[in-house]
Amino acid sequence: MPETVTPTNAAIGTARRLDAIAQIVSERRDMPGALLPILHELQDVHGYVPAESVPVIAQALNLSRAEVHGVITFYHHFREHPAGRHVVQVCRAEACQSVGADALVQHAERTLGCGMHETTGDGAFTLEPVFCLGQCAIGPAVMIDDRLHGRVDPARFTRLIEGLREAMRAERQQAAEASA
Ligand code: FES
Repeated sequence: MPETVTPTNAAIGTARRLDAIAQIVSERRDMPGALLPILHELQDVHGYVPAESVPVIAQALNLSRAEVHGVITFYHHFREHPAGRHVVQVCRAEACQSVGADALVQHAERTLGCGMHETTGDGAFTLEPVFCLGQCAIGPAVMIDDRLHGRVDPARFTRLIEGLREAMRAERQQAAEASA
């Protein structure tokens, strides 16, 4: 009797992701300047631009894979890997730099234990630079997930991160108690 082959969860996940990518690309391929809207939508949906989307986009827009990849790597906004649970963006533009953003970046890297464009080992935080959050009068500015924070000095940054770590600890404890 022939053995029945069933797709693994990973294969199903990949197939669904490819379907979602194909749909996003086909809905936008005829827009003027379609590449950026496609990349933005992919990142909004997946949290990053999946590598398997590059050949799909290249074929649809009649570009080379290198051209698509070049645009993804040119813009700091686009991620090539899934982000951590919380995305911490520190403004590195001029107005924030003039009030201490460079020192804040160094503090953020020490506090989180990862560099810019990196994710902490536990997957809790991704640290990214951003170039103006529209809060120039109250720099240094930081965005954590979708919340803006102004006048963030190192002490305040530590408090914000500690608050999130505490919330994640509480969530884990609740989950453990619920499954006990
Ligand atoms: S320069 Fe940092 S918010 Fe504008």
